[in-house]
Amino acid sequence: MTDIKDLINPYVWTAPEYNTAILDKAWAHPELGRMMLNENPIPPSDAVVDAITEMAKKGNRYPDRAYRLREKLGKLHGVAAENIALANGSSETIDAMMRIFLQPGDEFLCSNPTFEMFPSRAGYCNAKTVQIPLRDEDLQYDVDAMLAAVNEKTKLILIINPNNPTGIFIDDADLHKFAQLGIPMCIDEAYLDYHPEVEAKIDFVKQYPHVFLSHTFSKAFGLAGVRIGYMVGHPTVVEAFNLMYLPWNLSLMAIAAAEAILDTGEVKQKVEYNNDWMKKFADALAAKGCKPYEAHGNYMLVDASVTGKTSAEIVQAASDMQQVIIKTIKPINGKEGYFRVTPGTPEECERFMKFIEEYF
Ligand SMILES: Cc1ncc(COP(=O)(O)O)c(C=O)c1O
Repeated sequence: MTDIKDLINPYVWTAPEYNTAILDKAWAHPELGRMMLNENPIPPSDAVVDAITEMAKKGNRYPDRAYRLREKLGKLHGVAAENIALANGSSETIDAMMRIFLQPGDEFLCSNPTFEMFPSRAGYCNAKTVQIPLRDEDLQYDVDAMLAAVNEKTKLILIINPNNPTGIFIDDADLHKFAQLGIPMCIDEAYLDYHPEVEAKIDFVKQYPHVFLSHTFSKAFGLAGVRIGYMVGHPTVVEAFNLMYLPWNLSLMAIAAAEAILDTGEVKQKVEYNNDWMKKFADALAAKGCKPYEAHGNYMLVDASVTGKTSAEIVQAASDMQQVIIKTIKPINGKEGYFRVTPGTPEECERFMKFIEEYF
């Protein structure tokens, strides 16, 4: 008998899996503080929940392409509805972009570390992910090394801005160097809403038709479980995404939630809450001799190598001492002792502050 595994495309087994076991653990143990997944700790407002509930009453109908929402998002960014494609969270954009631009054997270029969903989804296209380590001194993209890695097989480039897990912004001058290559490039702006004073890179989309942006309602807007995101690009690129996304990729409820949350303006209060706690964490960690990187999302990368502990040891200690889950980070440029943390509910944040006080 043939092994059933051999009947399946081999790259399904070799692609790096994006493991979500930590979510199973967090849902099964609500007493644990969820400070490891860059979630928003503030639930949707009643207005948003009402919009979802109202739409659920029409749940017997198939959704359309949500022109009104796309128009609203277009207005927000100064582009047309035709420049916007809606996704089932930006993870769907990540998956679609791999399938749109990469064929087996092609190369996808990004940094190391990065959001691990990217190499995973490239792997399911049987494409090779080329990851260039961040610069040692400041954990900024190593632009020169990335440009040097480009070759005729490079068919897609990723820049996350601000980057995950570092939270650091890239300069426009460096972005232009990538864009000028003429190779399709995704600028993932998942966390940009935490800094509304910084504009989305719409000018790049207008100047370079092969550059597109990825946005999500999962982070500052706090709709990770509702699942909605969108990409902004040249109409031809948008058309390709719409063909690659499944028809009806979004539930009526997700569309209603996104429309409602834009109207409530509740994102502002969520952003302030996040940025206040980020500052408190950074100050407390710095006072203990750790190095929190200047972060612009809802997560902070911390170099705690002064403790002489590994990432896993620090994360375990947070769990043992205060029942908060923070994220392990693989050694960066050979150095151990990094972790990443996201503000949780006020009570979880207080627990994390206690952990800082007692452990470091
Ligand atoms: C850089 C980046 N992009 C995209 C996502 C995916 O978000 P979602 O699929 O919930 O929109 C994440 C999630 O953590 C992320 O860190």
